[in-house]
Amino acid sequence: MFITFEGMDGAGKTTQIRLLQERLEKAGERVAVTREPGGNALAEKIRALLLDPESEMDPLTEAYLYAAARAEHVRRVILPALQRGETVLCDRYLDSSLAYQGYGRGLGEETVRRINAQAVAGCLPDRTYLLRVPEEAAARRVGARGQRDRIESAGEAFLRRVEAGFCRLAEREPARILAVDASGTAEEIARRIAEDVAKLQTRETGKA
Ligand code: TYD
Repeated sequence: MFITFEGMDGAGKTTQIRLLQERLEKAGERVAVTREPGGNALAEKIRALLLDPESEMDPLTEAYLYAAARAEHVRRVILPALQRGETVLCDRYLDSSLAYQGYGRGLGEETVRRINAQAVAGCLPDRTYLLRVPEEAAARRVGARGQRDRIESAGEAFLRRVEAGFCRLAEREPARILAVDASGTAEEIARRIAEDVAKLQTRETGKA
């Protein structure tokens, strides 16, 4: 199974991925945890370029760089792990590009889908958890981490467009994207996600 976690910066994705990983591994599953942009050496270099506050780039260049990192990541990390029978948990994926570059930067969802079509090569998540927190709470978590990266410092209006983009994607694809209210405790949220994963696994076993 391929599971992705999405949401604004500071929504607690990393914590939830770790908690789900622990739960699945305790149940005897093999789990691969990875993130975008990144996940292997070259993609991490592209990540550094993208997040460096000193990098100046056109939105289209930005979209292509995220897609380039993704092409590498899909082929060298995600697909091989899925083929080995592992459950893949990925911190951000295609939906982030649709929300940040498509809606946030204003390139439009269709343009960003087109740019990414070959990069993802049909490898789409079975389930996506969209972690939603009130804006101030997310801003507080990001603030507490210290320096903001290039994307985080793109401004309030940009972040509101990204958030609205995520909402639109979730409304449009309710069968895949589950919006999770992430304002509770980490344990509560983890329980909600684990219950959903268990349901999905039952469904998958039923199919097999
Ligand atoms: P992330 O690793 O989630 O950052 P952090 O660890 O600081 O939460 O993602 C890095 C940034 O890249 C984040 O601000 C969102 C952005 N991003 C895009 O704009 N488009 C994309 O396709 C992806 C994957 C991330």
